[in-house]
Amino acid sequence: MKKIAVVTGANRGLGLALSEALAQRGFKVLMAMRNPDKAQKTLNGLTMKGLDVVPMKLDLSQEKSITDFVEVVKREYGFVDVLINNAGILIDSEDGGNSSLFKTKASTLQKTFVTNTLGPFLLTQKIFPLMKQEGYGRIVNVSSGMAQLSEKQTASASYRISKTGLNMVTNLFASEVDGEDICVNSVSPGWVRTDMGGPHADRSVEQGIKGLLWAATLPKGGPNGGFFQDGEAINW
Ligand SMILES: NC(=O)c1ccc[n+]([C@@H]2O[C@H](COP(=O)([O-])OP(=O)(O)OC[C@H]3O[C@@H](n4cnc5c(N)ncnc54)[C@H](OP(=O)(O)O)[C@@H]3O)[C@@H](O)[C@H]2O)c1
Repeated sequence: MKKIAVVTGANRGLGLALSEALAQRGFKVLMAMRNPDKAQKTLNGLTMKGLDVVPMKLDLSQEKSITDFVEVVKREYGFVDVLINNAGILIDSEDGGNSSLFKTKASTLQKTFVTNTLGPFLLTQKIFPLMKQEGYGRIVNVSSGMAQLSEKQTASASYRISKTGLNMVTNLFASEVDGEDICVNSVSPGWVRTDMGGPHADRSVEQGIKGLLWAATLPKGGPNGGFFQDGEAINW
């Protein structure tokens, strides 16, 4: 039977490339996105290559949307092997591209936290039973070097806080699955040329997804509860 992967934010950027790469590796990919209707051309391009991808509606900022999404996955497929919590936002520029936490607006932090931290937390919590029943799962939380507590940081405070929070979500879920063939890890793709990373980023999308694919396809006994880039552990 085909393995099933769920990728969030699958309509563009890293999520789209991840979906294509996983489908090329033989997965059925449930491509979760806010507006499947707007992604029709992109999706046609993938299906014309013979890839097994299914567009599905998911807005991570709405708990009901997450609940409805998981209900459909459960009803239509019954299990999930891989979950890549990839969708994310970086909206600190709404505070004027500030470099100070003192200028960060509560609304920016709240919006960012809801999408980047709370959404992946809820989705993982709800999808987890569909992995546990099969005794197998790979969960990849797409984090960022900007989450690292080990470095002195300025700028984009809301984004940093949300991704550090996501890393703790990784850490806590990983502690709960210890001893099972389920691996939960945070992975930084590096600075990548996408809409979020911008044209001056030093990595291509292909380079960015490499470490994410590695974590999504770890063998039995692979690392659990780590923070990685390119398959190498990095500091929290
Ligand atoms: N690019 C980088 O340099 C870099 C570096 C470190 C980490 N990352 C992380 O990598 C991940 C992917 O980033 P990217 O560079 O591919 O960004 P991107 O091109 O801006 O794509 C972001 C994706 O997230 C989706 N999304 C945003 N809010 C959502 C919501 N409420 N519900 C569902 N989907 C939502 C977007 O959907 P819409 O099209 O509907 O907006 C889009 O598909 C993010 O978690 C990001 O933080 C990126």
